[in-house]
Amino acid sequence: MDAAEVPLKIPTHVGLIMDGNGRWATARGLPRLAGHRAGVENLRGVITAGIKFGIKYLTFYAFSTENWNRPRDEVFGIMDLLAEFIDKETIPLHKEGVRILHIGHLDRLPPSLVDKINYAIDLTKKNRRITVQLAFNYGGRDEITAAVRKIVASGVKPENVTEALISRNLFTAGIPDPDLIIRTSGEMRTSNFLMWQSAYAEWVFPSTYWPDFNEDVFREMLREYSRRDRRFGGLSSK
Ligand code: FPP
Repeated sequence: MDAAEVPLKIPTHVGLIMDGNGRWATARGLPRLAGHRAGVENLRGVITAGIKFGIKYLTFYAFSTENWNRPRDEVFGIMDLLAEFIDKETIPLHKEGVRILHIGHLDRLPPSLVDKINYAIDLTKKNRRITVQLAFNYGGRDEITAAVRKIVASGVKPENVTEALISRNLFTAGIPDPDLIIRTSGEMRTSNFLMWQSAYAEWVFPSTYWPDFNEDVFREMLREYSRRDRRFGGLSSK
């Protein structure tokens, strides 16, 4: 069978590292924030494509614990864009059956943004058509550190520390690990995204900048995923 013709396997959970907004803007002679705006405007279409493919969980990496090191205008510009996205899209997404979750720390974020995030989570909490996790002020090392702190504070005996206990103390408790992670823009790094959860994820790196990532590129990435032989440390099932 031609490699392009493998039947499409649909992953349960796809993580997306939305990289390349700045370069998309620079290539058009626009300021970086215009690229982030285009990136945020692209979210809705990608969620719709995810629903169409039958994916049950999408996790979008929108702001890392290290992104505070960017210029102040860019940091707060991104916060404003996320606030606008929630204002505009929460009700339409709710009507589509989307559950919205947040992973990361809310404490350093502007209180008005925290209120919006909590509103979106609360409004959509019973929806199950698809779950969309927004990783915002999220870092994998930070998440594992926070989990270790909680576990130590609970007084658990060392011999009772298990992988399942650590998983239950992560922001993603109860969410299946990602099967596929897509990082757009051609950069081949994990940049602190879902470090624990991605242990057996398949990774793909399309050259497309995030604002241009669409259903067609998404399908190509699912095609690539379908060709992979996931062994989880065992032997091939083929
Ligand atoms: C990691 O790259 C990528 C992310 C944390 C996503 C970055 C996207 C934004 C900050 C823009 C926000 C976009 C939307 C749609 C809200 P990195 O640049 O943090 O890490 P690196 O230095 O290793 O490349």
